[in-house]
Amino acid sequence: MDVIISASMLASDLSRLSDELARTALAGIEWLHIDVMDGVFVDNITYGNNVVKALRPISRLYFDTHLMVADPTRLIPLFAKAGSDMLTIHIESGGDTAANLAEIRRLGMSAGLSVKPDTPVEQVYEYLPLCDMVLVMTVEPGYGGQSFRTECAEKVRVLCEFCNENNIDIKIEVDGGINAATAKVVKSAGADVLVAGTYLFGAEDMKKAADALRQA
Ligand code: DX5
Ligand code: ZN
Repeated sequence: MDVIISASMLASDLSRLSDELARTALAGIEWLHIDVMDGVFVDNITYGNNVVKALRPISRLYFDTHLMVADPTRLIPLFAKAGSDMLTIHIESGGDTAANLAEIRRLGMSAGLSVKPDTPVEQVYEYLPLCDMVLVMTVEPGYGGQSFRTECAEKVRVLCEFCNENNIDIKIEVDGGINAATAKVVKSAGADVLVAGTYLFGAEDMKKAADALRQA
């Protein structure tokens, strides 16, 4: 299967979001990665369900929503209503992870579960039947433009092997510091979805940059 590219909106020109989403689609990119930060789980505050709602009618991109929030539970219905396609929560967030994943699916979204770089990937295993995707963070969440942490590729490899051995059909997404060089490392470790912000939105030719990720 071809790798899926998810462009991280955090690195786009936030004063011109509709142009940036059009540019993303024109580059042949399928997914838009929407980083929701609450200023508690991570230092920054970004955007939330109302921005997703505003963008939904103007774009056919697949909305890959990454919740970096202390308590995702009461936000889940808001993002379902706003039009998120995938909703990813962190295993390090509060609340009942299993119940939250089940609720995401019940509301018609795909369910993702993310681990920060220092969280052992084995912690997600018990939740895999409730997941459509696992997001392995390759930087500490909170900021774009950080350097890829090489040791995280091993977590992708271990998770991919576990899924193969147990016939578990989920996607593995990586997020943080992805460029043509690091894409090669995570793809060979088994990643299915590559999130890239700085590399794509900072490129002179976004389509060329996306193709370089696909061919890495
Ligand atoms: C970090 C976010 C990432 C970030 C990636 O907390 O989850 O999605 O935008 O940005 P780059 O690709 O610039 O590392
Ligand atoms: Zn993200």
